[in-house]
Order: sequence, then structure tokens, then C-alpha cells
Amino acid sequence: MTHAATSGGPDLPQERRLVTEIPGPQSQAKFARRGMHVAKGVGTTLPLFIAAAGGGVLVDVDGNSLIDLASGIAVTGVGNSAPEVTSRVIEQVQAFTHTCFMITPYDGYVDVCEQLAELTPGDFPKKSALFNSGAEAVENAVKIARTFTGRAAVAVFDHAYHGRTNLTMAMTSKNMPYKHGFGPFAGEVYRAPMSYPFREPTNVTGEQAADRAIDVLDKQVGAANLSCVVIEPILGEGGFVVPAEGFLPRLREWTAEHGIVFVADEIQTGFCRTGDWFACDHEGVVPDLVTTAKGIAGGFPLAAVTGRTDIMDSVHAGGLGGTYGGNPVACAAALGAIEAMKKHDLVTRARAIGEVMGARLAAISQSHPSVGDIRGRGAMMAVEIVSADGHTPDAARASAISAFCHAHGVLTLTCGTFGNVLRFLPPLVMPEHLLIEAFDVVAEAFDAAG
Ligand SMILES: Cc1ncc(COP(=O)(O)O)c(C=O)c1O
Repeated sequence: MTHAATSGGPDLPQERRLVTEIPGPQSQAKFARRGMHVAKGVGTTLPLFIAAAGGGVLVDVDGNSLIDLASGIAVTGVGNSAPEVTSRVIEQVQAFTHTCFMITPYDGYVDVCEQLAELTPGDFPKKSALFNSGAEAVENAVKIARTFTGRAAVAVFDHAYHGRTNLTMAMTSKNMPYKHGFGPFAGEVYRAPMSYPFREPTNVTGEQAADRAIDVLDKQVGAANLSCVVIEPILGEGGFVVPAEGFLPRLREWTAEHGIVFVADEIQTGFCRTGDWFACDHEGVVPDLVTTAKGIAGGFPLAAVTGRTDIMDSVHAGGLGGTYGGNPVACAAALGAIEAMKKHDLVTRARAIGEVMGARLAAISQSHPSVGDIRGRGAMMAVEIVSADGHTPDAARASAISAFCHAHGVLTLTCGTFGNVLRFLPPLVMPEHLLIEAFDVVAEAFDAAG
């Protein structure tokens, strides 16, 4: 008999509840079946099969209810099956499911583009094009920047993650597991040093770190050859690194001086996650183009490139698109998700969540020298785990802490070039009592790891 809940959303009991070991017998059986049918290359963080989710919990097929500190990798900021999303999706599914926007248009696509123009940084005329995934949005941002500038080179940064397609693999920094054996990669991609305050050799300011990157690009590529600089304003998969203050504004200034398109990849940081609509907003940085996905549509596949009308309109008619890009159901979901973000003021909520997480992590660090660095913004926080010298990455300890959390009903994720960063991405609708309970478990996990 299964204890699994059948419908999710915020009405699910907001509790941590363990009724079996993790994973339970039903999840284990299903995972064995997965092994028979699903390609090995598709990874699994925690082999639990989910039956329902909502608010701050995931309920598995054995009836366990876990506290969600992952949000499906920063996707379900508004919560799983948020009412504002499901009601619009149901209405849209009953009306029509697909026409292909390039064949015959519909309002939802245009409405999403209008919202993106309003919400993204910059008070100037903007347009958008919609796609299915973050990687696809990044690829298209590069296509647009190349057309606009007539230049080929693309600048990216150390520790960057931009996706798994051929061009975005080239733009991504980390070999394993994202690139290993998958080359040859797209050309004309050049990597510059990132501002990584915890791992700077000396106390480098943001402006100095930017000048260091600019120097590399100037010498090795030449500003006149660069179509775009693509940067995550806070590194996502690379370890939630917040660049030193002044780094992004200085880079932005340099790109403007040289007619290089500044592309902010806000796929992980966007839509209230960092305690602002977009991470660039914290330092008042206004990109030429912004790529978005993940949190945009409450769990539906949707992505966008949004930016200056003159840049967006430089591409010939028919040059951008795809069969499913801006699918009407995904657009309905996005409009519902944006409605929920505004209605529940999730910008303010993300800041409050960040304060709770930051305070709890600071308390943990008092008795755990393995906490090398605590960083992030809003509801996007992380700790970098190091060995006794205070510096050497300790991926094994980060994995052990994460595994303890999983076994005790809290879903956590790791990340970082060195695999030693524990990251916390709760849904922005997580009730306070669950967040506190989750961090009680995180604290126990640090104690258990010694
Ligand atoms: C900053 C950033 N860019 C691009 C991507 C790729 O997005 P997708 O997985 O939707 O292709 C991700 C995904 O994690 C990301 O975090």
C-alpha cells in the first residue's frame, strides 16, 4: 500500500515526515526499473520518486515528506503546483496546446515578452524571443550578439556554467561531468578570470579583478573582435560565487566603451531568487541582453532572451525560433508564476529567507572550521567546505553533509568547480518553520561530519 499524496501544491501538509528509510522500498523498486530503461548518463542526486510537491515539501511514493532546499535547481521559486500557475495552465490546455508561434501567434507569448520588458533591468525599449531551455537561450543570445556586432568572439569566465549544448559546453568551464569526451567544442570562445573573493591570491578589489579579466581579453582576443561578454552575475553551478563589488559595473562599462554586447546569464539568479527581480539589480548593472529560464515558469520549460530593441531586432526575420519555443502552456505558466511573484512579494520573501539562512550558517561556522566561506544573496546561499588548512576544497565532507541531510529528510545540493560547495535554494514560498527545521538538520549534519 502506498501512502503517497495524490495532489500537490501549497495545501500539502508542510511538514518533514519520515515513514521509511530514505530511499524507501517503493522508491528503490522504481529506481531499479529506472536503471533498466533510462540512459546511465542521466544523473540522480537522490533516488526518491516523487508523488506530489508544494510549498516547501516533496512527498515521495513511500509517503516520506522531505523539506526542499533545491527547488528543482532554482526552478520552483513560486512552489510546485502553485495555484496561480495551475489555474492558468488548465485553462490554456483546455483552449489549445500548440500552434507554433512562428506559424500562427497567440497572446500568451506576447504577454510574457511584455512582462519581461517591464521586469528586466533597464528603462529603454526592449524585446524578447522565447525558447525551451536555458542553454537554448544562451545560444540565441550569442547568435543575436554576433549578428548585431558582425564579430565572432565570445568571452566567458572561469567557473562558468551556461549549458550542455555544443556552444554552451564550450562556454561552460568544468570538464566533469559536463564536457568530458564530448568535444570538439564550438570555437571562438575565450575564458577570462572571474572575481572569486574567497580564492583570490591577495585582497583584489572588484575593479582590479575586472581589469585583470579585461587585460586577458584585450591581449588574447582584442576588444574589437568580441561580439559579447556572457556572465552569470552570481555563479550558479560554479559555486554561488558573488563577485567582489565593482566587478560587474567595471566590466559593463568596458563592454559599453567597445561596443561589446553585455549578456547577463540570469537563468539561475533571476525571478526574485536573490532578493531582487534580477541579480544585476543589486549593483544597478544594466545588461544589453538578459537570458532567463528556470524560475520564469513555475516548473514549465520556458526560456528567454530579452534586451535592447536595436540589438534584438538586428536578426533577419526567421533567424530566431523553434517548434516549441514559447509554447502556449509554458507561457500561461510563466504568466501565473509572475503573478504569484508579484502577489506574494517574493522579492521581499527571498531577502527574509536569506537572512534566516545566513544567520544559521554563521552560527554553524562558529563551531565548524570546515566552513571556509558563506556567500550568496537572498534565497541563493552556499557554504564552501574546506579542510583544516582553511583553504583546500573538501568535496568528500560536502558530500557527507549533504547525504546526512538527505537521510534525515532535507533535500540539499552541492556544486562548485571543486565539488565542495553546499548550496541552498528553497522555494520562496517555504514556510518559516520548515526553513528553521531544515537548518536544524543541516547543523546536525555538520556535527555528524565532525
Ligand atoms: C546560469 C545558467 N545558465 C544556463 C543554464 C542551462 O539551463 P538549462 O539547463 O535550462 O539548459 C543553467 C542551468 O543550470 C544555468 O544555471
